[in-house]
Amino acid sequence: MSNLKTQAWRGAGLATVALGALLATPLVAIAAEPTTTPTFTKDVAPIFQAKCEACHRTDSIAPMSLVTFEETRPFASAIKARVAARQMPPWHIDKTMGIQKFKNDRSLTDDQIDTIVRWVNAGSPKGDPKDMPAAVKWPNEQVWNFAPLFGQTEPDLIIRSTPYLQKAGAQDAWWKPSVPTGLTEARWVRAIETRPSTVKGRKIVHHAIARLQQDESLAPADLRDPDVDSSAAAAAGGGGTFSEWAVGKQGEIMRPNSGKLMLPGARITWDIHFSNGGEDITDVVELGIYFYPKGQEPKYRQTLGLWGTGGIDIAPNEVKVTQGFHTMARAGRIESVQPHMHLRGKAMSIEAILPTGQKQMLSYINDFNFNWHNSYVYADDVAPLLPKGTIIVVTAWHDNTAAKKSNPDPTQWVGPGDRTVDEMAHAWINVTYMSDADYVAEVEARKVATTTQQQQQQ
Ligand code: HEC
Repeated sequence: MSNLKTQAWRGAGLATVALGALLATPLVAIAAEPTTTPTFTKDVAPIFQAKCEACHRTDSIAPMSLVTFEETRPFASAIKARVAARQMPPWHIDKTMGIQKFKNDRSLTDDQIDTIVRWVNAGSPKGDPKDMPAAVKWPNEQVWNFAPLFGQTEPDLIIRSTPYLQKAGAQDAWWKPSVPTGLTEARWVRAIETRPSTVKGRKIVHHAIARLQQDESLAPADLRDPDVDSSAAAAAGGGGTFSEWAVGKQGEIMRPNSGKLMLPGARITWDIHFSNGGEDITDVVELGIYFYPKGQEPKYRQTLGLWGTGGIDIAPNEVKVTQGFHTMARAGRIESVQPHMHLRGKAMSIEAILPTGQKQMLSYINDFNFNWHNSYVYADDVAPLLPKGTIIVVTAWHDNTAAKKSNPDPTQWVGPGDRTVDEMAHAWINVTYMSDADYVAEVEARKVATTTQQQQQQ
């Protein structure tokens, strides 16, 4: 647990950061003499290759390519503004509190931001073409990239959404077809890969969430999702989110010895966000599922909880805070968190109150943006291990004032609902539940791993 930041740390952390920023300013100014002027080819291109090209290249989701100097130069001032405000790349985790190590972190470091800002301030020079790094070879997104990992040419099961036509100039659309999986027996999933089915489709598929709807009462009792306790609730939605895909992502490979369990009769309900591609485009999103071979079933099951706040009742021009509490019925490891709010969503924090009373900030999403349904996937060595009885506290802030840029109308009262002009406040929380004995073993194993790592660093 020592790797988690506590409440007490939080105040100290903020103070340190503020002081650090004050001290850093004059130092940077002194260091930024001509000899250190960053150039595109030497300093900026490597950053863009690592943090921007996933989306900013031809035929991907972003409006412009940032691959060559010529393509990038016209956007220099917009780049500076977006990068300095941490609006690009889209990653909305507060850097001063909570867990900071993720498997899918695409944010910039302070140094990288500083380099980009100094490059723009210096007139965005190109630099020596010889410094330009070799072009990134992006994986062919029209093939199944995980298949070779398992010695296959294709996933074991491919599930397709139904086709959707996004007309040129149409507003963003959310497409939610439900399709059967055709499964007649339970199967354990070890990897999931998602892809829009065409190159053009990649221009409009902003994100695609696949929910697994299945009857939880069909699962073995010790593996049943503890949050789905009545069979009626189970039939309505047990199984939780199956996969969450957004631009720049390929899919999810489960942690060792854990997987998702698909039950007979399962259905996939899609939630696909199509943005405008400037021309009529029809697309289907495909889900490629890789199963553990029969007889090699993993020990742990990952399920996805929807833990929300409730009580959304927001007056015009009001900033409203709501809070919800969820008690973990079993011990578990939190794999990932994904806040869900709509256009007035401003921020969300996810904290844990341990049975000892100690409180820990897990993650604080301080600048929520409805365009980006990011799932924050914790790194293996910091994914919070929590004992049975831990209370997860979800706190949501909604901003119904004109200060929130995406707010369509601050004079409206806002209540809960499905439409994007209504509101929601919950986090999708991916948990691997385990027995108390396994929990103790996992905590011990992590202590050993951490100590070994520290010794190796000395
Ligand atoms: C996950 C995909 C993704 C990544 C990674 C990403 N962007 Fe973007 N970017 C977008 C999309 C989509 C838009 C348009 C919608 C929006 O503004 O949110 C955009 C918009 C922008 C804009 C505004 C363009 C305009 O017309 O004014 C800038 C500037 C920008 N990005 C720069 C960057 C830079 C620099 C990086 C890397 C340091 C980066 N982005 C990383 C997807 C991405």
